[in-house]
Amino acid sequence: MATMGARMFRTPGYGLADESLAVLMETSLQSPAEPSPLIPGRGAMTGSTGNPACMPNDDLSPDPRPDPGAYQAGWRIDPDLCFLNHGSYGSVPAAVHGAQVALRERVERDPVRFFKADLEGLMDESRRALARFLSCRPGDLAPVRNATVGLCTIFANRPWKPGDEVVVTDHEYSSGLHELERIAPRAGIRIVTAHVPFPIDSPDRAIEAVEGAITSRTRLVVVSHVTSCSSLVFPVGRIADLCRRRGVDVLIDGAHAPGQVPVDIASLDPAYYVGSLHKWVGAPRGASFVYVRGDLQEGFRTIALSSRARKIHENRSLFLRDFDYMGTDDYTPFLVVPDALDAGERLLAGGWPALMARNHALALEARAIVCAGVGLLPSCPDEMTGSMVSLPIPDAHPAHAGRPTRYDDPLQDALLDRHGVQAPIWRLWENPGVRLARLSAQAYNRRGQYAHFAKALAEELGRERRPVDSSILIHRSC
Ligand SMILES: Cc1ncc(COP(=O)(O)O)c(C=O)c1O
Repeated sequence: MATMGARMFRTPGYGLADESLAVLMETSLQSPAEPSPLIPGRGAMTGSTGNPACMPNDDLSPDPRPDPGAYQAGWRIDPDLCFLNHGSYGSVPAAVHGAQVALRERVERDPVRFFKADLEGLMDESRRALARFLSCRPGDLAPVRNATVGLCTIFANRPWKPGDEVVVTDHEYSSGLHELERIAPRAGIRIVTAHVPFPIDSPDRAIEAVEGAITSRTRLVVVSHVTSCSSLVFPVGRIADLCRRRGVDVLIDGAHAPGQVPVDIASLDPAYYVGSLHKWVGAPRGASFVYVRGDLQEGFRTIALSSRARKIHENRSLFLRDFDYMGTDDYTPFLVVPDALDAGERLLAGGWPALMARNHALALEARAIVCAGVGLLPSCPDEMTGSMVSLPIPDAHPAHAGRPTRYDDPLQDALLDRHGVQAPIWRLWENPGVRLARLSAQAYNRRGQYAHFAKALAEELGRERRPVDSSILIHRSC
């Protein structure tokens, strides 16, 4: 665990000239001084041109392998896998993993000192680094285990009155919706769903949908910054403005946002912002946060009160005290967030803005490659895209209904088992719903992987179109 106070990050924002971006797309990763100690020699096995830091110019040929330079930069994705789903769980770079291991060692040397004396100060160091990255006040940030707990904590702290309405879009992630559905009958509140079309031709459609769902009873609007299943970057700044004008609090679910798109909480000025740090920031799983606007912090408490809940310190707010310690747990994921921010900052010469711009450009290329290769259509304008794209795909012939799956759709099993592709296939709305393939673009991905995916998807969709095909059933031994 390095000292964090002195670290500075460039304010995130794409903000790159076209020429800079062109250079970034040619040069994918900076060559670090040392190869990763955890994965010795991996860079050499990928058959690169000798400079693992270069993204090959012939990268459009179908090639399932990750960028060879990625291994020397510390990504540990299986080199035999065409891994196109960074969005779900992220992947922890070796440097961040190493920092976490070192911190855990420190805990074990004197756990009492760690939990009683050191934890609070370390939490503040993490808050400060994260606040710089998100443009907000460190004292407004509360660490939580994951975004699900963050959403649940906010809902539990709302002063609901019977008849209150909460507006959600039909692109929201299921865990928050499940929690709202659980508390709605108890609290006497009504959940109003705003229908945002998909495919979508303009961010205006999302604004119109939310505006149309707000009534005089609306107390809270819940909206994703980047939607999970459909990968849409919602116009959250304009939605927050709209809510302010209508006197309604807004909760931005940014589970997918930090590290994928620029996040500037000060200018968004929402009531609440929830974010995950294990996805695009590269922190270990277990690192997420809730931002709570200052005027809403009084009485805002953790969902389970710890043994320290009544230990009031004059010079420390109860909000910070509560969220510093939520019972005995492993706090190292949040404590190494500064290391993750630092690792991301060092990946490309332009820091975080360059990494986000590079991933965004690669996601757009991925979409073009797959749409051309499979005959699909883009589902949203470029301005609604971050580092993920979701493409509507046709359904299988009804004769294949009921095929087993270990994931959300048997097509995902087929892509993995027959083509070594890990990419989610799921439905946007229930029954029948739009079937989607979602692709992520992270530093270790390269163009040839999307060409490989396109070939695999075209082949599997062809198989699914035929009413009978014995090879469609996959038998896997492991
Ligand atoms: C938009 C959104 N919100 C909330 C969550 C829940 O995150 P977690 O499973 O880490 O609690 C996710 C998960 O991917 C998500 O995409």
